[in-house]
Amino acid sequence: MNTNVQINLHAGRGENDRKILQRDQVPRLFQPLTLRSVTVRNRIMVSPMCQYSATDGVANDWHLQHLGSRAVGGAGIVSTEVVHIEPRGRITPHCLGLWNDEQRDALARIVRFVKSQGAAIAIQIGHAGRKASTAQPWKGGKPLSVQEGGWQTIAPSPLPFADGYAVPAEMDLDTIAATLKLFAASTRRAREAGFDIVELHAAHGYLIHEFLSPLSNRRTDRYGGSFENRARLLLEAIDAVRSEWPDDMPLFVRLSSVDWVEGGCDLEGTVRLAQLLKAGGKVDLIDSSSGGVDPRQKIPLFPGYQVPFAAEIRRRAGIATGAVGLINAPDLAEQILATGQADLIIMARAMLNDPYWPLHAAKVLKTKIPWPPQYERGDIF
Ligand SMILES: Cc1cc2nc3c(=O)[nH]c(=O)nc-3n(C[C@H](O)[C@H](O)[C@H](O)COP(=O)(O)O)c2cc1C
Repeated sequence: MNTNVQINLHAGRGENDRKILQRDQVPRLFQPLTLRSVTVRNRIMVSPMCQYSATDGVANDWHLQHLGSRAVGGAGIVSTEVVHIEPRGRITPHCLGLWNDEQRDALARIVRFVKSQGAAIAIQIGHAGRKASTAQPWKGGKPLSVQEGGWQTIAPSPLPFADGYAVPAEMDLDTIAATLKLFAASTRRAREAGFDIVELHAAHGYLIHEFLSPLSNRRTDRYGGSFENRARLLLEAIDAVRSEWPDDMPLFVRLSSVDWVEGGCDLEGTVRLAQLLKAGGKVDLIDSSSGGVDPRQKIPLFPGYQVPFAAEIRRRAGIATGAVGLINAPDLAEQILATGQADLIIMARAMLNDPYWPLHAAKVLKTKIPWPPQYERGDIF
């Protein structure tokens, strides 16, 4: 791939020395990453990004081009947007789902294409909880009433997310048990569709995060109150996913490391949670995001603003992390990896801006990665 140019420079050295030197000279961003049985070609992951463009939860040509073009562009991992486990778990009526086989088969077509381009493909699985039933962002993003085509939402506690949101129904124990089964069923379909990686969405104020955060969870049963109780749904969802996801396949969890609101999830708690996940041996990587559970949040935005969370979780829990959030420059991405703050760089908006970001970043970092042969004549700048 991108290593052979250095061989002559080290003539006379042993084969192992040569390999080490070659590897060191490849920017970290373009070194492969092995997680269980899956090796990805570089450390760049396309972050999950809702496209709000499905009908009845079924992926279509838009999703094929969205994910396919980013695989063509050289990313190591291409992730789907969040794919919901049941209709009422969708953020909008136009979000993807994986509660039936038609949805599975539509995703399988995309999986085949992404893999044919040398990328690994991840699926983010989730449930939007009390933040479900809203309009597409370009239609205002407001909560939809039943009359407007929305639905009754569910959550750990009957607390609306914000003004204008309906009061969610408090989940009883039967509903929780049924929801866990839905996580397992969607994971089974993800396996059948051929995905390489599952990421469980436990961030951004959606259902699992709503259980984790004291701001949205006021339960007094075994799913609320103490840290252990608030973490229970996440741990059970991980078990449900793992019951259908092979032991040799990687599982990521996206967490909101902090809620950015007093009394919410904080980094200490998130490190503790990551330590639990590490000890459980079922999770391979923490995708370290933040926020989303409380509209009062104030997030200080700057390039790499969430990197310290990935670094602290990695250092103290000893688990691989993905850094995400305004990592738009190749030099910043490289520096995050080189300083051991994360194992994977996860990018959203920069990838919307430029699906070929990895091909262009390789040039900035003075290395070469293969272009698709059909596009080689475009490699002129
Ligand atoms: C259009 C769009 C859709 C998104 N959809 C999701 C999603 O489905 N799941 C998720 O966890 N995050 C979602 N996010 C958040 C991104 O994955 C990412 O965490 C965030 O944009 C910060 O990264 P960035 O600065 O590289 O854009 C979305 C972001 C954008 C811009």
